[in-house]
Amino acid sequence: MSYTNPLRDPQDRRLPQIAGPCGLVLFGVTGDLSRKKVMPAIYDLANRGLLPPGFSLVGFARRDWADQDFAQIVHDSVKAYARTEFREEVWHQLAEGFRFVPGNFDDDDAFRHLHRTIEELDQVRGTDGNHAFYLAIPPGFFGDVVGQLKEHGLADPGPGSWRRVVVEKPFGHDLESARELNTVLADVFPSGSIFRIDHYLGKETVQNILAMRFANAMFEPIWNANYVDHVQITMAEDVGIGGRDGYYDGIGAPRDVIQNHLLQLMSLVAMEEPTSFDAESLRIEKQKVLSSVVLPRRLDLSTARGQYAAGWAGGEKVIGFLEEEGIKQSSTTETFAAVTLNIASRRWAGVPFYLRTGKRLGRRVTEVAVVFKRAPHQPFSATSTEELTQNALVIRVQPDEGMTVRFGSKVPGTAMEIRDVNMDFAYGGSFTESSPEAYERLILDMLLGDPPLFPQHEEVELSWKILDPILDHWAAKGKPEAYGSGTWGPQSADAMLSRDGRVWRRP
Ligand code: BG6
Repeated sequence: MSYTNPLRDPQDRRLPQIAGPCGLVLFGVTGDLSRKKVMPAIYDLANRGLLPPGFSLVGFARRDWADQDFAQIVHDSVKAYARTEFREEVWHQLAEGFRFVPGNFDDDDAFRHLHRTIEELDQVRGTDGNHAFYLAIPPGFFGDVVGQLKEHGLADPGPGSWRRVVVEKPFGHDLESARELNTVLADVFPSGSIFRIDHYLGKETVQNILAMRFANAMFEPIWNANYVDHVQITMAEDVGIGGRDGYYDGIGAPRDVIQNHLLQLMSLVAMEEPTSFDAESLRIEKQKVLSSVVLPRRLDLSTARGQYAAGWAGGEKVIGFLEEEGIKQSSTTETFAAVTLNIASRRWAGVPFYLRTGKRLGRRVTEVAVVFKRAPHQPFSATSTEELTQNALVIRVQPDEGMTVRFGSKVPGTAMEIRDVNMDFAYGGSFTESSPEAYERLILDMLLGDPPLFPQHEEVELSWKILDPILDHWAAKGKPEAYGSGTWGPQSADAMLSRDGRVWRRP
């Protein structure tokens, strides 16, 4: 249920919808994800007036805290990470709905306590039995928690109410474990009540890929193998693993980023026009792309992997991955991964999609670059076009959100000399409103029960089917190649493209 102004057209998607009466139970309140993303996003939503007045937040953790201690944790996280300004009146109203339940995941008493807490909130805050359970915990515990929710009747909505579960990637570590995980969730919640978060789908610039492609006339006619030479999708980070050794070691760049964020980006770039923007129509088109992916025969030549060594980042000397606290000297975890994928469809036959991601690279940037073929004929002398490269359309996902079109232009003067120039669209220059954080959008959509931005299980499975053979191939190879921190990755990544006569962009 949601509140909209009855005088306005309910189909008008420009109007922000406000979540109806509800609450959220957060497991894993002490983790990074909760502190840096979930709690600040909840405050930002409240500050923007998008949460119901009686919204409630219940923290569940193995800590000996009272409600006020939990409130202090949320307060600190909001002060440090919220996007919008801190307003006392918003904070006070929100904080009245905070509760804390101490306990372990195997502690029946704690789940009975949670049950009573939710009933109390329904009475005093009017949450109407509508509650979401956000599992910001390692996936190894998902089974225990959803089992307890079932056992204690917390997963059953009463008449006219809803119960939902929110899980974060990684959704398993290969196809088999992803299926097992899904069985665990599907045993307790119907598929429409399971919300899988891939936060890239909540980013404005990522949603804009569909707007750009399907709201305009000028891009789609050239969006195919007749005009496109290749596509490069880059997600580069300048940071190392931070204190995330426990999560990252053994997972690495392919599972952390390619399986989800990059394959989702690729699906949006490559898919056909959906019949509508509802979840089912989007899923059908994304699924078609993912199921048409074909790996090159020689994985040794068409993929690259690396591990960052010591070097320089942001003017500071930094240590290598193997020196990071908690990482074993023998670790073979990739901190850089690049893959070549082909899509067997009429639109994309012969157009490679190059996906790469890495930590401790030259700078933080995520972009999709669609690189076009050269014009079939150049009526200029070879010297006139020496500085002309291929036309490109670059979707700048972050930072510096926007789009760049690169094309050739005559250099002013008497000679005919043609050189690359850029035409830029920047969000900051065209819009006055700043983009909400991905988590604001996704948490609100989940509370509204609006699923288009959440990957479905089928997409998750198909993504593992693409990645599993590459992971097996790499597992057999032992140690990844070292690359210096602050560089653009291992040499094998450059070699992978140069074999195809191409080069990576240096954004
Ligand atoms: C997460 C990964 O999904 O995305 C992290 O687990 C990564 O390793 C992060 O740092 C990057 O997110 P963003 O939004 O800063 O690009």
